[in-house]
Amino acid sequence: MKIVVIGSGAREHSLCYSISRSPLVSSIYAIPGNYGISQLAECIKIDQSNFEEIYSFCQKNTVDLIIVGPEVPLVEGIVDFFEIKGIKIFGPNKYASQLEGSKGFMKDLCQQNNIPTANYARFNNKADSINYLKDQSLPIVIKADGLAAGKGVTVAESMEIAEQAIIDIFNEKFGANMEVVIEEFMDGEEASYFVCADGENFVSLESAQDHKRIGENDTGPNTGGMGAYSPAPIFNSKIKQQVDNEIIIPTLKALQKSGNPYKGILYAGLMIKDGYAKLVEYNIRFGDPECQVLMLRMKNDIVQLILDCIDGKLNKTQIEWADDNCATVVMASKGYPGEYKKNTIIHGIEKLESSDIFQVFHAGTSHNGSNLLATGGRVLSLTAKNETLSEALNIIYESISQLEWPEGYYRKDIGKKALS
Ligand code: AMP
Ligand code: GLY
Repeated sequence: MKIVVIGSGAREHSLCYSISRSPLVSSIYAIPGNYGISQLAECIKIDQSNFEEIYSFCQKNTVDLIIVGPEVPLVEGIVDFFEIKGIKIFGPNKYASQLEGSKGFMKDLCQQNNIPTANYARFNNKADSINYLKDQSLPIVIKADGLAAGKGVTVAESMEIAEQAIIDIFNEKFGANMEVVIEEFMDGEEASYFVCADGENFVSLESAQDHKRIGENDTGPNTGGMGAYSPAPIFNSKIKQQVDNEIIIPTLKALQKSGNPYKGILYAGLMIKDGYAKLVEYNIRFGDPECQVLMLRMKNDIVQLILDCIDGKLNKTQIEWADDNCATVVMASKGYPGEYKKNTIIHGIEKLESSDIFQVFHAGTSHNGSNLLATGGRVLSLTAKNETLSEALNIIYESISQLEWPEGYYRKDIGKKALS
């Protein structure tokens, strides 16, 4: 089969790694891909939102299957577009993608189906939003109701911060015509849980824990994710059962009832407290960096899993995982998520040997013929698995110590919570 992977991050590199191990695959193309991905796939420079151009490429190259990594093209309706064209594509359609594309849509669906989540209110103007704050307690959570590249959520410790967050949203800081969702603050420990749904059936993938803040001990601003490990010990079988029964199944049933059955990866961001999970958010794709740890742990042929999902055959699918613990540590350019220097040189990458238990997934890198350059905020995702989480982390931190990259930054406490 000829496969196109859409996206350019370490998530998509890890997907290409898994796809490249499938005997079903003859060629992999990445749109647009990155330097690391170019070792496994042919990278094609097309804008991921330009569906017509992607279609021309797929026709010319007789592509059999498109796998979409990031949320933006899904929310823009790439699945609806290619279903009409008759090319197999993996992911939810535009309607179902609102689970991530509109926080208001997701909250309304939860409310209508008694899905445990934070209480909330939706507003389409500044005055009513600010007025509503008067009767609320702190902290309070202010969300832009649309895709905001992970930056649209403020957990406000004071009413001034909450008001400013509302003003920013209506001043179109995160895009035009965005509305506001105001949520009660939920306390607890966060975990990510993934399922793959075919419209009717679903299979559980695994849990993982992300590290969203830039600083050690979960301090400083939010990032795309600085590291992850899987499985997440807090997500035990009792919680899994509760989440499947009270969150995942009612969501899938509601979408089926709406005439838009959910197909693809569904990622539930959870807040767990006293042995009970509530939904923080839905994402409609694999997490980054959670995907990297799942891809190293999954034993199944991912292409077969995706084909079974598209063909509605997941009731026959069994997912198998390595018993190992897997971790990933993200190396970023110093300064991220703020300003950072571009095109700094990373020395020593050739010393790191890839294997079944260790992979370096690239996000923002390029190569100038002699040197590996860091071109983005998040740059590398060093990923390892082993019998214990602490051994997997040792492999990663030992590998990082072999790199010379003074302009690089990483957290030294990934996985610490699970080890204590
Ligand atoms: P979201 O984009 O909705 O996942 O929000 C990003 C992050 O904000 C989450 O991973 C949480 O850490 C935090 N967050 C969002 N909503 C809440 C909430 N209601 N209570 C506490 N923290 C929240
Ligand atoms: N790791 C968080 C995300 O992918 O949204």
